[in-house]
Amino acid sequence: MRLQPDEAVRRSGNEGGGEEVIRTQGLTKVYPGGILAVDRLDLSVRAGEIFGLLGPNGAGKTTTAGMLTTRVLPTAGRAWVAGVDVVAEPALAKQVIGVVPQTSTLDRSLTVWENLYYHGRYFGMPAKSARAATDDTLERFRLADRAKAEVLELSGGMAQRLMVARAILHRPSILFLDEPTAGLDPQSRLALWEILAELHSDGQTVLLSTHYMEEAEQLCHRIAIMDHGQILALDTAAGLKQTVAADTEIRIQAEGDLDDLARELTGRVDGAVDARVVEDTVHLSVRGGRRLLPQVLAAADDAGFQVSDISVNEPTLETVFISLTGKDLRE
Ligand SMILES: Nc1ncnc2c1ncn2[C@@H]1O[C@H](COP(=O)(O)OP(=O)(O)O)[C@@H](O)[C@H]1O
Ligand SMILES: [Mg+2]
Repeated sequence: MRLQPDEAVRRSGNEGGGEEVIRTQGLTKVYPGGILAVDRLDLSVRAGEIFGLLGPNGAGKTTTAGMLTTRVLPTAGRAWVAGVDVVAEPALAKQVIGVVPQTSTLDRSLTVWENLYYHGRYFGMPAKSARAATDDTLERFRLADRAKAEVLELSGGMAQRLMVARAILHRPSILFLDEPTAGLDPQSRLALWEILAELHSDGQTVLLSTHYMEEAEQLCHRIAIMDHGQILALDTAAGLKQTVAADTEIRIQAEGDLDDLARELTGRVDGAVDARVVEDTVHLSVRGGRRLLPQVLAAADDAGFQVSDISVNEPTLETVFISLTGKDLRE
């Protein structure tokens, strides 16, 4: 079932219905010292999808991406990208993927333009097409006016765009992005999201790892929630949310000991599923919707708290993660 490198891309564009372009079977990584980073992972990603690996630090996201991109050798199991076995044919696998790693790997001794051009050459493009692809890509990523700039002159957001531009220059079947917006300011994050949405509309398959649930929710068609090297749940964001017992998240701000308030609310409100303190707010997950609001206010009042603000929200992926693991994504 090997695909020609470009075939996966050509066939894509229909979310979910495309050819399988990533497949893993019992994929496992044990690091020296016996650290089980990825535990018998079975995964299938289809052409045209933006697929998200969502999980906290240490969940095994980077190791999973590392094995799929040939940087990390699996301990057991198998994996294919665009039909190519990553262990048996790593050189071929590298031709069909584009990688944006967690930290910058731009060449600081080259200009912006040269970073793209030499990447194209390295991937076997003739000089003329590498030049054309570089010019086009800089235009598309709104970096054309920076062509002659040094890498060090770029802002964090621009450097990140350049990394993505470089990763897709050779038209890979799959683009891998590891925590692409970690450390970016909100504006650069939005700019990158826009670019990913554009790439998606051109049919690009993307595997994205993140610990930001908003990012997974905004961008990804399907999301695998990972923890301790395993996939705990896999579905669309909407599908994942339907699995949790709570249908509503009520957020309450009040003076005083919020841990105490969280405990009081869990005990006093019918339909309370979970309550936890996030920064200066209590997040109360309930089954029963907004009609529970008066009861929540009364319960807080009875417990001696004065509520300064209250809001009703849909459950988030955070709620899903908590219901699966009993802990916060942030922890
Ligand atoms: N090179 C390595 N050597 C040993 N342990 C590692 C190495 N890389 C990652 N780990 C461990 O493997 C687990 C998964 O890490 P990682 O794949 O980086 O997770 P994530 O990207 O989700 O934060 C963690 O426990 C981490 O400490
Ligand atoms: Mg990581």
